Amino acid sequence: MDSARKDCPFPFLWTTDSPTKLTEVYEQWSASYDKDVEGRGYLGPVLVAKSLAEFYPEERRTVKVLDIGAGTGLVGVELQKLGFHTIDGLDPSQPMLEKARATHVYTNLLCQYFTARPTPGVDKDSYDVIISAGSFLQGHLPTNCFIEAARIVRPGGIICIITRTEGKGNFDEPEYRDQFIAVIKQLQEERKLEEIKWEKVNHSPFSSGIIIAYRVLQ
Ligand SMILES: C[S@@+](CC[C@H](N)C(=O)[O-])C[C@H]1O[C@@H](n2cnc3c(N)ncnc32)[C@H](O)[C@@H]1O
Repeated sequence: MDSARKDCPFPFLWTTDSPTKLTEVYEQWSASYDKDVEGRGYLGPVLVAKSLAEFYPEERRTVKVLDIGAGTGLVGVELQKLGFHTIDGLDPSQPMLEKARATHVYTNLLCQYFTARPTPGVDKDSYDVIISAGSFLQGHLPTNCFIEAARIVRPGGIICIITRTEGKGNFDEPEYRDQFIAVIKQLQEERKLEEIKWEKVNHSPFSSGIIIAYRVLQ
């Protein structure tokens, strides 16, 4: 494995453990983010949107989607190409969300952190789908946030995420992955979630990734 593949191309992401400081990093990165990730052949948004579309072969227009860790809106753009038109985005970085707003894809943009706690202003069973790309990483979305995802997605709805499994801070770092799995296991025991798939994919030409999908049961 060459070093370009092994290392995270954006090392400035891993200089802090503080969520607030990470948000400042994204604020500074927002202007060049799209160009930078495109330059690395980032596939997350395309792949997760396609994966979600498989669950909705028709009638995508009215499926109500929340994109968590929406950033500059790359996922929303891909969803719209596939016929999804009712999309909200959530991210703690206002400058990233301003880029997302400029895509004209999102109905509502929520500037806040997504955690295991109830999201202010978002009721139980508010969405058909939660989608996310590139945000289930160390220091980003917390490993227990599926608790909140299962609350705000209605029964029968889908949670579908893609994330990186190689490079610094990736999803497969033992502590992050183990904590995530423990929370999912608990939610499955409570009959709140049902596994659909864990599928290995290429997150970019330089790093592997995984698509994870669950159905919400209650
Ligand atoms: C690598 S970017 C991915 C952005 C976009 N989904 C994409 O695929 O291009 C990670 C995003 O997660 C956001 N983020 C980090 N912690 C978060 C949290 N607790 N809740 C919501 N978003 C968070 C960051 O602000 C950043 O915009």
